[in-house]
Amino acid sequence: PAAFRAAPTGPRHWSLPCGRIVDRPRFGWRGCLLDVARHFLPTREVLRFVDLAAAHKLNVLHLHLTDDQGWRLEVPRYPRLTEVGGWRRRSMVGRGTPDAFDDRPHGGHYTTTDLREIVAYAAEQHVMVVPEVDVPGHSQAAIAAYPELGNEQSRLLDVWPSWGVNSNILNASDHTVAFFRDVFDHVMEVFPSPVVCLGGDEVPTEQWDYSPLARRRAAELGLARPADLHGWFVRRMVDHLHDRGRRALGWDEILDGPGLPAEAVIGCWRGVETGHRAAAAGHDVLLCPEQHVYLDHRQSEHPDEPVPVGFLRTLADVYRYEPVPPGTPDAVAARVLGAQAQLWSEHLDSPRRVDYAAFPRLAAFAEVVWSPREAREPDGFERRLAAHHLPRLDALGVEYRPLTGPRPWQTRPGVAGRPR
Ligand code: ACM
Repeated sequence: PAAFRAAPTGPRHWSLPCGRIVDRPRFGWRGCLLDVARHFLPTREVLRFVDLAAAHKLNVLHLHLTDDQGWRLEVPRYPRLTEVGGWRRRSMVGRGTPDAFDDRPHGGHYTTTDLREIVAYAAEQHVMVVPEVDVPGHSQAAIAAYPELGNEQSRLLDVWPSWGVNSNILNASDHTVAFFRDVFDHVMEVFPSPVVCLGGDEVPTEQWDYSPLARRRAAELGLARPADLHGWFVRRMVDHLHDRGRRALGWDEILDGPGLPAEAVIGCWRGVETGHRAAAAGHDVLLCPEQHVYLDHRQSEHPDEPVPVGFLRTLADVYRYEPVPPGTPDAVAARVLGAQAQLWSEHLDSPRRVDYAAFPRLAAFAEVVWSPREAREPDGFERRLAAHHLPRLDALGVEYRPLTGPRPWQTRPGVAGRPR
């Protein structure tokens, strides 16, 4: 643990026995998604998270930069994206009924220089930063900034203060396609990663069903129904990225559109089956199933667990997660690039809350993606964690969830969640 402190606190020399270490990672993509859209994290906190990822031999930081609740990426050509889209008036607190809000403005964004710093800092530690701009859903912050991107232009929208799936999606006009090509051009200038994520998840299409413009657009394009604009829009962005030598990554909903180029990588979040579908269609697969690796989900059933949302995922559950279980067809296994833990931040409103949700479960996940399946040993992990690794996290100042449950100030009495 002393080696993880910022400065020496005792003897400055350690000796190690001579040895030869033979080790290598099981997967090439050992990722963690950080949602900086729902709650912004200042650059220094992202840099700190890079340190923590690298200390756990994770090598991909997926930055979810845009959503209904905030746009965090400076795009010089479209300044209102951050001037307007980077702030919301208030935030929902928990997921109770009725809705509760904090009436406190929230926001922030990264300048191009901030992002270049994050990318360069991560690269020094062998961490690739994969940026995500989520389209055509999860776009209310962009529509609030530029109403011409939406479907109901007579209605001015706020940056969304609530959580959930939102029906205010982009329109499919030539203007909107060109706008987002510009945005992705800027993203590619700032982020050198071979993979760029365009989202594509959770797109309710009823605004297109009701919009005369969208209906006409779908008919002009020869689409059977307005809902098919989803696949069409995604395809425009996929092609744009591929034409410029990048690979598109999209959430598994993009599999539903026709003609998706096989080079697109599919982030399988809704379940393991979508991984099989993606592989059968010739796509590489990134496994991030919400039933297993969503680290914003609750860690115990105890009433003290803060803002209990999603599936119950204990430390032991995460350690037991097996990305490629025995019996997986070879054709599917060969397509698995790796796996990614996800930290969505609706209920992680500070770096301290991120620490609590991430650790020590992210240490368990790191072992899942690094070690061979046969080398994993749950009892040994818990022993090593308690004896050796938690003291390292203490030395690093990580405010992890103690194995016995939250410390009093880590609870959120009275804030309802929405367990599944
Ligand atoms: C997702 O959780 N909507 C990718």
